[in-house]
Amino acid sequence: MFSNAGLWLSGLLVSASVLLGACKSDTDATRASASGAPAPPAEASAPIKVGLLAPFSGPFANLGAQIEGGARAYLEAHGASIDGRKVELIVRDTTGMAPDVAKRLAQGLVVRDKVDFLAGFALTPNAMAVAPIATEARTPMVIMNAATSSLTTKSPYIVRLSLTLPQVTAPLATWAARNGIRRANTLVSDYAPGADAEAQFVKTFKAAGGEILDSVRVPVNNPDFAPFIQRIKDARPDAVFAFLPAGSQGIAFMKAFRERGLDQAGIKVIATGDVTEDQLLDAMGEQALGVVTTHHYSAAHESPENATFKAAFAKVAPQSTRPNFMAVGAYDGMAAIAAVVHALGGQLDGDRAMQAFKGLELESPRGHIRIDPETRDIIQTVYVRKVEKKADGYYNVEFEQFAEQRDPGK
Ligand code: PHB
Repeated sequence: MFSNAGLWLSGLLVSASVLLGACKSDTDATRASASGAPAPPAEASAPIKVGLLAPFSGPFANLGAQIEGGARAYLEAHGASIDGRKVELIVRDTTGMAPDVAKRLAQGLVVRDKVDFLAGFALTPNAMAVAPIATEARTPMVIMNAATSSLTTKSPYIVRLSLTLPQVTAPLATWAARNGIRRANTLVSDYAPGADAEAQFVKTFKAAGGEILDSVRVPVNNPDFAPFIQRIKDARPDAVFAFLPAGSQGIAFMKAFRERGLDQAGIKVIATGDVTEDQLLDAMGEQALGVVTTHHYSAAHESPENATFKAAFAKVAPQSTRPNFMAVGAYDGMAAIAAVVHALGGQLDGDRAMQAFKGLELESPRGHIRIDPETRDIIQTVYVRKVEKKADGYYNVEFEQFAEQRDPGK
């Protein structure tokens, strides 16, 4: 992962004098101007502080557990220090979709704890609320999940190591149109990532000759899918496209879909991988069999990097059955932080760190990834998968891929 660290370093040294004026800490700025030369590594032995914000209680508690597990799995697999400096994770519970709480916690992390990086962010509304704090404090904000396209435009200090909804949805619409699906309904969760997914599916599917019969948006914590499912049954599409945030919503949706006999009526489910996410897939079991989804990560992905990741995750998060895509976003987020700290030679500064994130490339458990220097969003392969039963449970088995996918939402 440090393969091009030398390259970044030389690039960074050229621009170091320009960037020195933007030092985040007063101490660094004073030292730099007093000597007229780049500041020596500030507190070379001080820990690198990463403030991890995610929900660890409430209906999205599972998301926080995955993100923390993924971050700790990185430290387990690669060592808990970067260039001799210990990495300290400072974990804070946003309690769910709670922008005000996230904002308050982020302020505390920046002002009191003086974190070098803000990280985590499972949910878009929380990440949106923290973006101005990252800008004001000039602290890099490493997005490990939140997947609304426009998020990276809310602060120049945001970098995303996860996905965007349009990025994973466009390939699914293309795949569907190529595979005999002509008429579709859409069903999405009624908040920003759902709106993104709906808009992209409609756009790409129609451009490929498909017809949209009806689009519904369901409440974020929707307790009952029955009325929505009946509406889809009455419309008789070839398929329903779904996006629901990872967690219990997917289970409730698949249950209602089977109970109302939509599969028997010949209607297929096609969805983003959030709906059949790895951690809860065994809980869906038979009800999810055969569902086709697109996503950037499957626990069934075969690669040495994924084997290392899964073994480390099992050690640090034994309470979770398997890592899901949020855990891999956190693992890669930590890998990106490690690469940037190394590239900066330990002299942490928000502006120089953002330069180092741009163009960063990593071998992730999901495959090769890189950060688009223009958008600070991720470029990656999106896989088409089908839920299958294996000897040790249900998996999203990859069978086709769309390489080098950028976010089409911008
Ligand atoms: C989001 O809020 O951006 C989000 C949450 C859960 C997902 C995907 C996106 O599964």
